[in-house]
Amino acid sequence: MCGIVGYIGKQKASPILINGLLRLEYRGYDSAGIATIEQNGITIMKDKGRVANLYELDGINNLTGTVGIAHTRWATHGKPSKENSHPHMDNSNSFAVVHNGIIENYHELRSFLESKGYSFYSDTDTETIPNLIHYYYEKDLEASDNKFLAAVKKACDDLKGSFAIEVLCKDDPEHMVVVRQDSPLVIGKGMGENYISSDIPAILSFTKDFYLLNDREFAYLSKDKIQFYNNDLKLIVKEVKSIEWNAASAEKDGYDDFMLKEIYEQPVAIRETIGAKLNEKKIVFDDFSLSKEYLKTIQKIYIIACGTAMHAGLGTRNTFEQLCNIPVEVEVASEFRYKNPLVSEKTLCIFISQSGETADTIAALKLAKSKGARTIAISNVIGSSITREADYCIYTHAGPEIAVASTKAYTSQLTLLNILAIYFAELLETSEENILTELKQELLNLPKKVELALKDVASIKSFADMVYKESDMFFLGRGIDYAVALEASLKLKEISYIHSDAYAAGELKHGPIALIENGVTVISIMTNPDLVEKTISNVQEVITRGAKTLIVTNQPIEDKRFDQVIHIPETSTLLSPILSIIPLQLFSYYISKEKGLDVDKPRNLAKSVTVE
Ligand code: F6R
Repeated sequence: MCGIVGYIGKQKASPILINGLLRLEYRGYDSAGIATIEQNGITIMKDKGRVANLYELDGINNLTGTVGIAHTRWATHGKPSKENSHPHMDNSNSFAVVHNGIIENYHELRSFLESKGYSFYSDTDTETIPNLIHYYYEKDLEASDNKFLAAVKKACDDLKGSFAIEVLCKDDPEHMVVVRQDSPLVIGKGMGENYISSDIPAILSFTKDFYLLNDREFAYLSKDKIQFYNNDLKLIVKEVKSIEWNAASAEKDGYDDFMLKEIYEQPVAIRETIGAKLNEKKIVFDDFSLSKEYLKTIQKIYIIACGTAMHAGLGTRNTFEQLCNIPVEVEVASEFRYKNPLVSEKTLCIFISQSGETADTIAALKLAKSKGARTIAISNVIGSSITREADYCIYTHAGPEIAVASTKAYTSQLTLLNILAIYFAELLETSEENILTELKQELLNLPKKVELALKDVASIKSFADMVYKESDMFFLGRGIDYAVALEASLKLKEISYIHSDAYAAGELKHGPIALIENGVTVISIMTNPDLVEKTISNVQEVITRGAKTLIVTNQPIEDKRFDQVIHIPETSTLLSPILSIIPLQLFSYYISKEKGLDVDKPRNLAKSVTVE
C-alpha cells in the first residue's frame, strides 16, 4: 500500500527512483510520481496510472538532479488523479513531500493553514505536510542550527496518524529528511550514495546494508553521511543491519510471474526456515528462548494475524493444543484489537506477519502487551515494525515475497509454527518423545515432499481449464483440512476474482448445500484418514446435485465419481496443510492465467496493508 523510494548520491536520481517504484509495484497503487532537486529548484513529475507512464512524461529525460524522492499512491483521501498524486509541494515550492499512511487530523491542520493564508490544490491529507513544514520554517526557527530538520520535526509534532515521509528542501539541496510513525521505511547505505524505500526488495540491488528507523526517529541524509535523531532532535547512533537476501531473489528468474516462482521456491523456503533448528537433539532457536517455568504459567495461547497469516495460525492450532496441552485461540487482528480481549500475563500471544508491517496486527500486538501478555512476532522481514514491538521475534526464511498472493510465506509460517509447538512441548514435557521425534523427522522430509507435490501440474491445469469460467466455487474440509480450505478459497478469490467460500464439510447440510446445483465446482481436501469417509459422504451429496468435484488427498482414493483426484505425499496429519495447499495454490494460479488476469498484482489488493 503506497510505496516510497528516495535517492541521494552522485548519479542521476530519476532512473533510480523510477526503477525503485517499479520494484514496489506489487504493494498496490493507482498513481506515481517523483521529485528531484534541479538547478532551478524542485521539479515534480507525476500522474495517475502505472509507474511506466512516468517515462512518457514531457521533460522526464531532462532531469539531472542527484537528489530525489518518489512515490506510488494508493488513494485514501481523494480519487486517483494527477493533482492527488505525490509528491506534494508547499505553496512557495520550497518543500516537496511524499507520504505513506494517513494523517487523521488533516481537516484541522488544513483549516489552520488556510487561516494563515495557505491554499490547497489537492484533496489529500498529505498536502498539509509540506505547508506545515513551510509554516514552521518561516515562523520561529531562526535560532535553530538545522532549520530544515527542525521544521520537519515541528510539523511532525502536529501530525496525528501514521506516516512515513521523505522531504526535500529547495534551500538545502544536498540533504533530505525522512521520518516514520507506524509506517514502514528503510534506509539503504551505499558508498557515496544512500537509498530510501518502503521495503527492502526495491533497493536490494544497490545495497545489503540497511538502517531501520523506529517511530519518530529522524534521518538527515546527504550522499556521504546519515545523521539520526530522536524525537527531541538529539543525535543517536543506529546500527547498520546486513540483509542476507540477494537481489536475484527479488527477480522473476525466468518465470512468467512472481507467484509461480514463489510457489516453486517453497521447498527451499521451508528448508531455510527449518535451518539448523531440527536434529536429534532438542530444538534451540538462535535468538530466542523461553523458560519451562514461564511456559508452565501459560493458560492460553492466542495466535493473531490477518488473511493468509491468520490461516497459518488456524493450520497449526491443533499442533499447539495436542502437543502442549494449552488451549489456543486464533483471532483476526482487526477483531482482536477492538474487542477488549481476555488477555493477561498468563496469556502468550503469537503474532504472524509476513511483511511485519500490517497495521491491524501491530495494533493488536500493542494491545496484548499493554494487558501484560508476552508477545512473539513471526515475520519474514528482518527488522520490520512488528519484530521491534514484540518481546521475542522469530523469522521465517522465505526470502522476499513479491506476489501479492502469499504462498511461500504461508508454508514457511506453518513450518515455523509447528517447530515452535514442538519446542514448547519439549520444554513442557507434555508429549511423548517418540511423537516429537517422528514429527521432527517428518518436518525434515517436507521439502522433498513439497517438491513431489509440485510435480502433478497437468491434472491441476486440466481441472482449472474445465472450470475457469465459473463464477462460484466451494472448498470443503474437516479439521485441519478446513483450515486449508479457507486458505485455498482466499487464494482463488484474490487472483481469479471468482467468488468462493470455504466450509467445514459437516456444515454443508446446515445451509450451504442450498447453493449446490448443476455445474457448481466443489473442491475437497481429505488428509485425515479418520475423517476421509465422512468427507467423501459430503462430496457424494454435492455430486448428486450436479457439482463438479476436485479432491486433494494423501489417501488411496481412486473414485470415478470425482472429476479429478490430486494425490499428494503422505505426512503427519498435523503437517498436512504444508502439502495440501500446494496443488490449490497452483489451481488458483492457472485459473487466473486462463482468465488473462494480472496474477502478481490483483485488483484492489496491496501486499503490505499498512493502514487500517
Ligand atoms: C493473502 C495475503 C494477505 C496477507 C495479509 C497479512 O494472499 O497475502 O491476506 O496474508 O494481508 O499480511 P502480513 O502477513 O504481511 O501481515
